[in-house]
Amino acid sequence: MKILGIETSCDETSAAIVEDGSRVLSNVIASQVEAHARYGGIVPEVASRQHVLAIVPMAQRAMADARVAWPEIGAIAVTCGPGLAGALLVGVNAAKAMALGRGVPLVGVNHLEAHIYANWLGRDGALGEPPPLPLVCLIAAGGHTDIVLMRGHGDYAVLGRTRDDAAGEAFDKVARILGLGYPGGPPLQRIAEEATAPFALPRAWMKGTHDFSFSGLKTAVLHLAQAQGVYPLPEDAAARQAMRPTIANIAAGFQEAVVDVLVEKTLAAAQEHAARTVMIAGGVAANGPLRKRVTERSSVPVRIPPHVLCTDNAAMIAACGYFSLQRGVRSGMDLDVTPNMALGTR
Ligand code: KG4
Ligand code: ZN
Repeated sequence: MKILGIETSCDETSAAIVEDGSRVLSNVIASQVEAHARYGGIVPEVASRQHVLAIVPMAQRAMADARVAWPEIGAIAVTCGPGLAGALLVGVNAAKAMALGRGVPLVGVNHLEAHIYANWLGRDGALGEPPPLPLVCLIAAGGHTDIVLMRGHGDYAVLGRTRDDAAGEAFDKVARILGLGYPGGPPLQRIAEEATAPFALPRAWMKGTHDFSFSGLKTAVLHLAQAQGVYPLPEDAAARQAMRPTIANIAAGFQEAVVDVLVEKTLAAAQEHAARTVMIAGGVAANGPLRKRVTERSSVPVRIPPHVLCTDNAAMIAACGYFSLQRGVRSGMDLDVTPNMALGTR
């Protein structure tokens, strides 16, 4: 079955066609980064309006790229939470119109659950092999950092979560302190590669729990940046250039601390629950040192999506929608958005 997936929960308008929950026929993404960059973060109303502009062209492009016609589409899957209410509404209403117009099933998808399903998607158009269950997945994104036990399709237990900032949010805030731009993960990772002597920064282990905390680390970075004269950044371009090695060493120290905690806590949860697979998902799973470290340290097979399927995309929505439909889940035309939707609910 071919499913059209739609994702508009945050600042990416995406549409994709996925076959049988694992073969990606197309996956197109319109990023709004430029529209939000001058504000230094996402402005919800700007996001909604950008989705309004992009949603139909993206759906049309996904169909064209996959070379499929409407009669071949078996269902529409759409993110209905968590996310920005106004942004979610654009995708949900577009999906309803398409499902109603074509007379095909509609299925609302939890965005966090979908991040996990990015790991079901095959590479290079191939059918993905299903991973052995139970599995433990770290979902590390801009708005969430959760360790999830998945025992079967639709059967989740959230083992731990962040008590303050999400990991991606910490990357974004630290990148802002260091004057690296938004979103912060990719430029922070790049400059950290220049580090010669990374600073030692604190790790919050939250012992006895599978929870995380990143706000103390963020504050430690701020104090270090102030002490090193990096924050606030000097106006003068030459002075800023002279600071580059220090910025690289702070970035690398921060990244090492985050990766260390994410990997060790995920693997501890996996061991405790006898997981047969370890997964990483969400935007932060695009981070090179995180990918390398978890792969080296895990004693069970690790799955991490390719970069484009780590950050927000509609292919993962279509994959998740497929497995929901398989177990009889359907949404009605009264499908609403749930901005604070938890995992395991719809
Ligand atoms: O999954 P995502 O696209 O959106 C949410 O659902 O939140 O994740 C976006 C987050 C941003 O905070 C971004 O800085 C982070 O993922 N990110 C990275 C990297 N690429 C994206 N963080 C660290 N290293 C990266 N290479
Ligand atoms: Zn996401």
